[in-house]
Amino acid sequence: MARNRFDVDENLETPFNIKHLLRAGSYIGRHKKKMILALLYSAISAAAALLGPLLIQRSINVSVPNRDYGELAILAVIMLCAILASVLFSRVRSKYMIEVGQEIIYDIRKDLFEHLQKLPFQFYDDRPHGKILTRVINYINSVSDALSNGIINFVLEIFNLILIAVFMLLCDVRLSLVVMAGVPLLVVVVMLVKPAQRRAWQDNSNKNSNLNAYLHESLDGMKITQAFVREEENAEIYDKLNQNCKRTWMKAQYTSNLIWLSVDNISTWVVGAMYLTGLMMLGPQVQIGTLIALASYAWRFWQPILNLSNLYNTFINAVAYLERIFEMMDEPVTVDDAPDAEELPPISGAVKFDDVTFSYDGTINVLEHFDLEVSPGESIALVGPTGAGKTTVVNLLSRFYNINDGKVMLDGHDIAKVTLHSLRSQMGIMLQDSFIFSGTIMDNIRYGRLDATDEEVIAAAKTVCAHEFISQMEDGYYTQVNERGSRLSQGQKQLVAFARTLLSDPKILVLDEATSSIDAKTERLLQEGLQALLKGRTSFIIAHRLSTIKNCDRILYISDKGIAEMGNHEALLEQRGKYYQLYTAQVED
Ligand SMILES: Nc1ncnc2c1ncn2[C@@H]1O[C@H](COP(=O)(O)OP(=O)(O)O)[C@@H](O)[C@H]1O
Ligand SMILES: [Mg+2]
Repeated sequence: MARNRFDVDENLETPFNIKHLLRAGSYIGRHKKKMILALLYSAISAAAALLGPLLIQRSINVSVPNRDYGELAILAVIMLCAILASVLFSRVRSKYMIEVGQEIIYDIRKDLFEHLQKLPFQFYDDRPHGKILTRVINYINSVSDALSNGIINFVLEIFNLILIAVFMLLCDVRLSLVVMAGVPLLVVVVMLVKPAQRRAWQDNSNKNSNLNAYLHESLDGMKITQAFVREEENAEIYDKLNQNCKRTWMKAQYTSNLIWLSVDNISTWVVGAMYLTGLMMLGPQVQIGTLIALASYAWRFWQPILNLSNLYNTFINAVAYLERIFEMMDEPVTVDDAPDAEELPPISGAVKFDDVTFSYDGTINVLEHFDLEVSPGESIALVGPTGAGKTTVVNLLSRFYNINDGKVMLDGHDIAKVTLHSLRSQMGIMLQDSFIFSGTIMDNIRYGRLDATDEEVIAAAKTVCAHEFISQMEDGYYTQVNERGSRLSQGQKQLVAFARTLLSDPKILVLDEATSSIDAKTERLLQEGLQALLKGRTSFIIAHRLSTIKNCDRILYISDKGIAEMGNHEALLEQRGKYYQLYTAQVED
C-alpha cells in the first residue's frame, strides 16, 4: 500500500532552542507568585522527608544503646511531625501546580484559538484539520506540564540531590563516597540511552498525531465511506497507522525500561558495596545505625538523578511542541486589516472590480484583468461552467483571499484598505454548503446578528419560506439541530441559512448556489421572498437553474478567466451565444 498523506510525520527533531522556552516564559511569568510559593513548599517538604534517616541513625546509635526512652519518644514525635509536614506541604504544592498548569493551558489555548479564527481560507485549504486539532489539544496539554511542574521539579531535584548528598556526608564521608562512585557509571548509561529514548517518544507522538488526523477525516467522511463501501480499505489504512502507534509505543517503553533496569542494577551494586565496606569497618568508627541511615539515603540518591534525566527529556519534547504551537501562532494573518485601515462607512452598495487578476496557488490565474462595475441595488447573476471562477469572484468581493493585481472597490473604497469587520458585516454571504452549528434553529438563524429578537428571527424565516417546516418540528424554533445539521435535509439547511443571511440585513448579498438544493416549487415560493430580499441591496447570485436568475438586472457568463457575455436575459438570448446555448439546453430538459 502506498504511503498516504496521513503517514507523513511532523518533524519534531529540532535543536534545543532556548528562544521557545523564553517565549513560554511569558505564560509562566503570569503565575510567578504561585510558582515561587510552590517551590518554597516543595523545598520544605523535601527537607522534612530527608530528616527521617538522620533520626533513625540517632535512635539506633545513641538512644537505644543508652536505653534513653525519653529521647526516643522525642525523636519519634519529631519524625511524625516531619512526615506530616512533608505530606502537607507537598499537597499544597500539588494544588498550586495543578492550578498553574491549567491556567497555562487555558492561556495558550485561548491565544491559539483567537489566532486560528483570524487565519485566512488559504491556511485551511491545505492542511488536514486533524493535525491542527492535535496541536491545539495534545501538544498544549503536553507542554503545560513541562512548563509548570517541569520547571519547579527541575529546581527541586537539584536541591534534593544536594541535600541528600549533604545528609549522606553528615552520616559518614567514606561510605558516601562509595555510594557516589556509582554516579559516573549511571551518567554513561543515561547518556547512551537517553537520546534513543527521546527519539522513540517523539516518534510515538508523531504516529499518534497521524492516527488522529486520519480518524478525524474518516469521521467527517463516514457517509461517503459507507456509500462507496470503502470500509475495508479504510480499515487497512487505519490498521497500519494503529500498528505504527503500537509499535512506536512499545519501543519507547522498552527504551525507557532499559534506563530503569540500569538504575536498579547500579544502585543495588553500589548499596551492596557500601554495606560490605561498612560491615568491614563496623565498630566504633561506623555504627549499625549509621549504616542503616546511609542505605536509606543511598536508595533515595538515585531518584533525583533519574528525575533530572527525565525532565531533560520532557524539556526537549516540550520545546519541540512549543515550536509547533508558536509556529501556528506566528502563521501570518495574510488577510488582515492594513496598518492604516479605516472603517468602511455604511455603504450604498456600488461595486467595482478594477483590472483584477487572481490566482490561488500563484501559478495559474483563475481571473485575469477582470473588470466589472455594479451600481447600488443592482442584481447580478453569474453563470458559466463549473470551475470557471464564479465562486472566486464573490470570494474576492468578501476579501477571503487577497488579489494579486488590481482593486476591488465598494462605494469608491478599496476593500484592501478598510477593516475586515466593517467590510464583512455589511455583506451577507451564503456559500455553496451552508454550515449549521450545533444548537437550536433559533441560534442558527441568529448567528449573524445576535441582538435580533425572536420575532425578527421568525419574520426572516417566513420571508424565505422556512417558517412552515420549522413550525412542524417537535420543538419548533427551539429544536436542537446536531452539529452540521444532520437532522435537516439539504434544502432545509439552505432555507435556515437563507434566513440567517437575511436577518443580518446586509447591503451586499451573495448567494452562491444557495438555491441548488431547494425543490422547484419551494424555489418559486422563495422567489417572491427573494424579490423582497433583493430590494435595495446589491446582489450577486450564482445559480445553475436559470429560472432563478432570469429576472436579474444583469447576467454575466464567466469563462476563460473573465466575462465572456454580459447583458440581461433577453439581450443575451438575442446574442445567440453561450448563454443562449445554456438556456436552450435547460429548456429542452
Ligand atoms: N481554495 C482553492 N485553492 C486552489 N484552487 C482553487 C481553490 N478554489 C477554487 N480553485 C480553482 O479555481 C478555479 C475556479 O473555481 P471556482 O471559482 O470555485 O469555480 P466555480 O465557477 O465553479 O465557482 C477552479 O479551477 C478551481 O480548481
Ligand atoms: Mg462555485
